[in-house]
Amino acid sequence: MAHKIVATQYGEPTASVELIEVPEPEPGPGDVVVRVTAAGVNPFDAKQVTGRMGADPDKLPLSLGGEAAGVVHAAGAESGFAVGEDVVVYPAAGAYAEYVLAPAANVHRRPEGLGEDQAAALLLAGVTAADILATLEVTGDDVLLVHGGAGSVGSIVTARALAGGATVIATASPANHDYLRSLGAIPVSYDGDLAAAVRAAAPAPVTAVSDTAGTDQAIDVSLALVRPDRIVSIAAWGRTGDGITVIGGGTERSRRQRREAIPGLLDDAAAGRIVVEIAGTFPLAEAGAALAAVAGPHPRGKYVLHP
Ligand SMILES: NC(=O)c1ccc[n+]([C@@H]2O[C@H](COP(=O)([O-])OP(=O)(O)OC[C@H]3O[C@@H](n4cnc5c(N)ncnc54)[C@H](OP(=O)(O)O)[C@@H]3O)[C@@H](O)[C@H]2O)c1
Repeated sequence: MAHKIVATQYGEPTASVELIEVPEPEPGPGDVVVRVTAAGVNPFDAKQVTGRMGADPDKLPLSLGGEAAGVVHAAGAESGFAVGEDVVVYPAAGAYAEYVLAPAANVHRRPEGLGEDQAAALLLAGVTAADILATLEVTGDDVLLVHGGAGSVGSIVTARALAGGATVIATASPANHDYLRSLGAIPVSYDGDLAAAVRAAAPAPVTAVSDTAGTDQAIDVSLALVRPDRIVSIAAWGRTGDGITVIGGGTERSRRQRREAIPGLLDDAAAGRIVVEIAGTFPLAEAGAALAAVAGPHPRGKYVLHP
């Protein structure tokens, strides 16, 4: 037998998730069973538990967790993997577990130089960042405003846009400004008159916007600076009527851009071109506390669960 975390109700995470006993999964011919050593914790997981993504009682108990790192425990004959290989699973279904079953297409060899915690926390944010940049078609000529530039997604948007030669103005709390400067971005606080602060900080007019904050302030300021077709958000679902693009991996283009980004993200993280900071680790049984932490104001970096 093995263990996994499920939500047994919708609500506050610490009161809503449980560690339960389940049979060890068995792979079909094209599948891989991975013994999870680290599972990434994402804001989406917390939104699932609180019911912000919908609260259908028929979906309970709900498996949680979209990404993990681990070791191949059992490999289907047609999977192309062998027992003992170090791998990353993304997208994963039910990664808050001792074992996760995935089709081989969702299993990626973990490159040397990329730690387990970093690998477990890289891909969901990374493919989202890559999707934003590809959808915006950001080039080295752009002056890119990144709302939430020190966040998990925003920091990868920032690092990659800078690597491509763009100028980046990034919003964050003052505590994250030195970090943004260390990446090469120009930091701006999001409290106060944000449009004026961006105009004052930008060496040239802003030409494109990446939004991971999803606030009306972020979208209103963006619309004051650039045309709506140069604004891509992953969180402002209520503002599509303004002509901005909001992406969630649901379109064929978005799915392709995310899938194609995975090898480059693994390479960049292994080589240190992307640095995944770990804000904290929790035992699997304390997933509720990890979910509560990621749902509220929290330090920069990712939370990771250890089975
Ligand atoms: N649609 C998709 O495909 C997709 C994929 C992944 C994530 N998401 C969503 O995108 C959001 C960000 O995810 P994440 O993993 O990057 O989260 P995260 O690591 O928690 O980062 C959130 C960032 O938002 C910043 N922030 C907080 N309040 C803000 C405000 N009023 N204005 C501007 N920035 C603000 C924070 O900055 P400071 O700490 O500096 O204050 C923090 O850096 C979440 O809502 C998540 O569910 C969507």
